[in-house]
Amino acid sequence: MPIDVLLGLQWGDEGKGKVVDYIAPKYKVVARFQGGPNAGHTLVMNGEKHVLHQIPSGIFRPDTINVIGNGVVLDPAVFAKEVLALEVKNVEVKENLFLSNRTQIIIPTHKLLDRASEASKGEQKIGSTLKGIGPSYQDKFARQGLRLGDILSADFDSRYEALKLAHISLLDGSGFDQQELNEMETQFFESLEKIRTFKVVNTEYLLNDCLQKGQSILAEGAQGAMLDIDFGSYPFVTSSSTTAAGACTGLGIAPRHIRKVIGITKAYCTRVGSGPFPTELNDETGEKIRKAGQEFGSTTGRPRRTGWLDLPALKFANMVNGTTEMLIMKGDVLDCFDEVKVCTAYHNEAGQVSEELHYDMARNISRPILHTLAGWPEGLASADSWDSLPSNFKSYCLFIEEKLGVPISFISTGPGREQTIVK
Ligand code: IMP
Repeated sequence: MPIDVLLGLQWGDEGKGKVVDYIAPKYKVVARFQGGPNAGHTLVMNGEKHVLHQIPSGIFRPDTINVIGNGVVLDPAVFAKEVLALEVKNVEVKENLFLSNRTQIIIPTHKLLDRASEASKGEQKIGSTLKGIGPSYQDKFARQGLRLGDILSADFDSRYEALKLAHISLLDGSGFDQQELNEMETQFFESLEKIRTFKVVNTEYLLNDCLQKGQSILAEGAQGAMLDIDFGSYPFVTSSSTTAAGACTGLGIAPRHIRKVIGITKAYCTRVGSGPFPTELNDETGEKIRKAGQEFGSTTGRPRRTGWLDLPALKFANMVNGTTEMLIMKGDVLDCFDEVKVCTAYHNEAGQVSEELHYDMARNISRPILHTLAGWPEGLASADSWDSLPSNFKSYCLFIEEKLGVPISFISTGPGREQTIVK
């Protein structure tokens, strides 16, 4: 049986949590393959909102196995809080969750390093969530990180101390608050005690056994293609492989098992943090989208930057991911417009028209060429099928499909599980 990969095609926050929860019943396993507590996957059930940061979005389905893969960087303190918040709601976590022993651990000093690194960048700061993501992936690739399996070994504390001291020597120049670190460490070690009671295993065997038995797997991506360490708007990106290839390295699954790559996009664009954003609207229209879409970060609460849909960026994301179908989210947010715009190409700095993303988007400003389409002020709320959607919204979807050459398989008309239309 196959593995399907579900991922964001933009700068994150596309609505992956809702989609995973909606399609989870089709899969035996939901597995996170990259990122960490920088993610915030929002699910709305019976009007109640839940935000998951590191635990896969299949956790609300009692028959689903959830896996935190080796490609993730896990903050134990955030994990312990997430578990508690779920247990309070009577969600069965311990039974249905498996953690890879190869998953890198975010230690308290990673967060201090993240903060110091951002502060040192001044105007050029990335707008990181400051959750320690960059420094922990740095340690992974410098081959000095600590992994979840290590917390079970007798020499863990001494290895922790050595890494912490190495970090402190880097931090010395920028200074840090020892009292704050002590508090973070207390929480960290308490959280490790909690994790020791969970199933920390060789998840690559578990996942490949599931495939052998004919059980299907959904790989749940975090962030989005435009934040990918290689293909995103570098250096304004996150530190992991957010694209489909990341599912193989982040879970230990061979590429030949991938069947579908399900790409999620909003009907417009948002970005949180700094960096290039060709279709950004720094005006009333942008504000209107932010308000209607409640575009505020689910992890940091920061207002998200907003703009029109960017087709060249989506085309690039579809290309590097091999997207087999797209899901359109939040079309209802654009209900308030009589007409909507879509970027179909860019004017580059030399004034030429191009549909290609520049490798260095940050230093090579692309001005969007916008195409106008009629809006759907009658709204999406009452639609319950493709046929009952406003005809202008259907034209909008068909325009996107035609320009990108990838089919749209379903459309979300609101935050709830039930507000979903299969096309
Ligand atoms: P970091 O991964 O926290 O270091 O952040 C790097 C960049 O990615 C920043 O611009 C963040 O705002 C952005 N980012 C990280 N995680 C997410 C996410 O889950 N959604 C949207 N943006 C994110």
